[in-house]
Amino acid sequence: MRGIILAGGTGSRLFPLTKVTNKHLLPVYDKPMIYYPLKTLVDAGISDIMIVSGRGHAGHFLELLGSGADFGVRLTYEIQENAGGIAQALGLAEKWADDEAVAVILGDNIFQDSVKDDISSFTTGAKIFLKEVPDAERFGVAELGKDRVISIEEKPKQPKSNYAVTGLYLYDPEVFSIIRTLKPSGRGELEITDVNNEYLTQNMMQYAILKGYWSDAGTFNSLIRASVLVQKNSQQQYADE
Ligand code: DAU
Repeated sequence: MRGIILAGGTGSRLFPLTKVTNKHLLPVYDKPMIYYPLKTLVDAGISDIMIVSGRGHAGHFLELLGSGADFGVRLTYEIQENAGGIAQALGLAEKWADDEAVAVILGDNIFQDSVKDDISSFTTGAKIFLKEVPDAERFGVAELGKDRVISIEEKPKQPKSNYAVTGLYLYDPEVFSIIRTLKPSGRGELEITDVNNEYLTQNMMQYAILKGYWSDAGTFNSLIRASVLVQKNSQQQYADE
């Protein structure tokens, strides 16, 4: 399986922190934000990873991460010219993915869990990872039935559950055909939630519920929350050693 980190977008919710740098280069505790999704993929055993970023400060990703040799992986870079949505950014990786399944992670998502087993056992369709949160209306939200996801709504005013759809997705190569059928949403973006709902319609969607902490880091509050979660966890590890 190949890995894709989506690090495009404008970072407008973090302005002025993002005025002269890219959101994914901002610190989360003691590392640049993008190290965390990169580590999630590396720890899951993925060795071929594409980073999709916007034009602004794209060269800084290269300076920071280089070929990937420091992390034991091979990195490839792609540019998303305009912030046309998560699904649009993913679509740019089609040729590079070369008909393999892909593990897609959002560049501002911080995961504690290992997804190594989910990735090694993945065969076909799609898989999403859910986490119970107190502010579900900020996310894609899964409506859960008995043993299955019934529907996913993007930022619903009245969420049907507390389960956020986190920014980590496993897809078979069919995902690229689905992206080609998408129309821009009300906010003018190709939505990853529309991709996931298509897999649900086809009855090809699996899900798992994360046990460890998870946070996005794209707003002032979630950025500091992510830093505190990482800090607490690293101090705990230090105390255990
Ligand atoms: O954090 C999880 C949530 O991420 C999900 O629950 C939502 O379903 C999903 O739509 C997304 O919601 P956000 O509105 O928080 O996404 P945001 O626009 O902040 O983008 C998240 C990351 O995706 C960003 O750090 C980089 C990447 N991205 C985003 C856009 C809009 C791109 O690479 N290109 C883009 O055009």
